[in-house]
Amino acid sequence: MATRSPWPRPLSLPCCCLLLLALGGPGFFQSHAVEVNVKDLSNNTCIYAEWMMSFLIKYETNSSEYKNATLKPSTNVTHDGSTCGNNTHAPLLAIQFGAGHSWSINFTKTNETYQGNIISFTYNTNDAVFKDAKTKGPITIVVKDPMHPVQLNTVYKCHHLDSIEVANVSLFFWNVTLQAFVQNGTVSKNDSTCEADKSTVAPTTVANLTTAPITTASSPLPTTTSKPVEKPLIGNYSLKDGDKICLLATMGLQLNVSQEKPVLININPKTTNVTGSCGNTSAILRLNDSNKRFIDFTFAVKNTSANTQRFYLKEVNITLISSINGSEPLNAGNNNLSIWDTFLGSSYMCQKEQTVLVTEDLQIHTFDLRIQPFKVQDNKYSKAQECSLDDDTILIPIIVGAALAGLIVIIVIAYIIGRRKTYAGYQTL
Ligand SMILES: *[C@@H]1O[C@H](CO)[C@@H](O)[C@H](O)[C@H]1NC(C)=O
Ligand SMILES: *[C@@H]1O[C@H](CO)[C@@H](O)[C@H](O)[C@H]1NC(C)=O
Ligand SMILES: *[C@@H]1O[C@H](CO)[C@@H](O)[C@H](O)[C@H]1NC(C)=O
Ligand SMILES: *[C@@H]1O[C@H](CO)[C@@H](O)[C@H](O)[C@H]1NC(C)=O
Ligand SMILES: *[C@@H]1O[C@H](CO)[C@@H](O)[C@H](O)[C@H]1NC(C)=O
Ligand SMILES: *[C@@H]1O[C@H](CO)[C@@H](O)[C@H](O)[C@H]1NC(C)=O
Ligand SMILES: *[C@@H]1O[C@H](CO)[C@@H](O)[C@H](O)[C@H]1NC(C)=O
Ligand SMILES: *[C@@H]1O[C@H](CO)[C@@H](O)[C@H](O)[C@H]1NC(C)=O
Ligand SMILES: *[C@@H]1O[C@H](CO)[C@@H](O)[C@H](O)[C@H]1NC(C)=O
Repeated sequence: MATRSPWPRPLSLPCCCLLLLALGGPGFFQSHAVEVNVKDLSNNTCIYAEWMMSFLIKYETNSSEYKNATLKPSTNVTHDGSTCGNNTHAPLLAIQFGAGHSWSINFTKTNETYQGNIISFTYNTNDAVFKDAKTKGPITIVVKDPMHPVQLNTVYKCHHLDSIEVANVSLFFWNVTLQAFVQNGTVSKNDSTCEADKSTVAPTTVANLTTAPITTASSPLPTTTSKPVEKPLIGNYSLKDGDKICLLATMGLQLNVSQEKPVLININPKTTNVTGSCGNTSAILRLNDSNKRFIDFTFAVKNTSANTQRFYLKEVNITLISSINGSEPLNAGNNNLSIWDTFLGSSYMCQKEQTVLVTEDLQIHTFDLRIQPFKVQDNKYSKAQECSLDDDTILIPIIVGAALAGLIVIIVIAYIIGRRKTYAGYQTL
């Protein structure tokens, strides 16, 4: 399922435009905010936009492998071709950046709303970041903007990370401020906040930090690696099909990312968005945390020899855009998993910490896991099948029980022996 994204349709405004473009300050991993103010011939603003954007692109190398490259508009950004539109042409926001890359979106409107229509992105594999690319030259992808309509005369705002995936490209947007069809050249004072920003705690926790006692101020800072990180918070995640829950997941998630050195990252369920899809034989749970981290779990159903059906976790994909400390963004996956395996119609539970190996350099630790990706009845988990790891916890009572039983036997034997001795004593007397 596509997630929402930043863009808004056209109407009659004077033609050709003059456009001003400025680059904002550095954001995470050296991204720059792009600010564009599209004006008509009378110097009235018709589109105003400021946003952050990056692209993750998979390409084939000359040795027939696949690699990922990252592009972001930073320097040499131009804005040719942006226009306010007219009766026959939609308003268009277009930018060009780097070594021959370009991106654009046009807008449509109704009486009450506006929204993005078509996004077009062209990347040029002659750029040095694709130096070992098999084929050289520009490649264009075109995709419908999945953004929901926004009320006219309001500014669309969304801090939350949004992504669009198409062909070999993932487009990421965040910190978006946008108004198309600006009236009378004045950007509106009224905002339309995206659902993602409404449903989660503000991504910047500055407010929390300032109100917290000073003693706790050190803990939220990204301290260095070796310190053991506390257990992650447990999150309840669910997906709906209509008004019924079709997927349930409860877990605490921690990533262990080894770039230069291993770093543990806890996923905060309070700032994590849930999307995905349900199905009869395949289901996807996508968690999108406010720190630009995506974790996709893909579940599948299999038939066993005993003619029963089981489900299992088949695939995990992780994208970290602003992984840690401005390190390189990362995309990793494992599509050959066969874990969290249990009968279809039940839920899988594992309270102990478990490790999912995504790649050599990336692991997921799960805590208090319970999952049911299929056949959820009455919005509740079905009976749980516990993982074998949890069986250890059953061992402890067994050992204690056995020890107690042994103790009782010893006491009884000691008592009997004691009685015998006493009898013997009396007899001798
Ligand atoms: C619009 O602004 C530009 C630069 O600020 C100026 O050169 C131009 O004359 C203005 N045009 C109108 C119609 O005011
Ligand atoms: C590139 O990204 C894709 C998904 O977008 C992923 O499956 C693949 O493992 C990545 N490859 C590398 C070399 O990181
Ligand atoms: C937006 O651009 C696309 C591709 O150039 C075009 O097909 C579409 O009709 C445009 N949208 C509008 C509303 O004009
Ligand atoms: C692939 O391209 C790189 C960079 O241009 C070059 O160094 C390398 O020799 C090429 N390899 C093959 C197998 O052509
Ligand atoms: C903007 O907000 C003001 C004050 O709340 C309100 O009167 C006005 O109708 C709003 N405009 C729009 C376009 O929502
Ligand atoms: C734009 O100007 C017209 C005419 O002055 C006025 O009727 C209208 O309310 C204005 N619209 C906004 C959004 O300010
Ligand atoms: C982040 O970078 C700073 C400065 O380079 C360093 O002191 C700190 O240890 C790094 N943090 C992590 C989690 O790597
Ligand atoms: C998750 O849901 C269960 C069952 O409704 C509830 O007992 C538990 O407290 C919830 N946990 C969190 C962290 O909200
Ligand atoms: C994190 O991963 C590294 C490298 O695989 C490993 O050495 C380290 O023990 C892991 N840390 C934890 C807490 O699992």
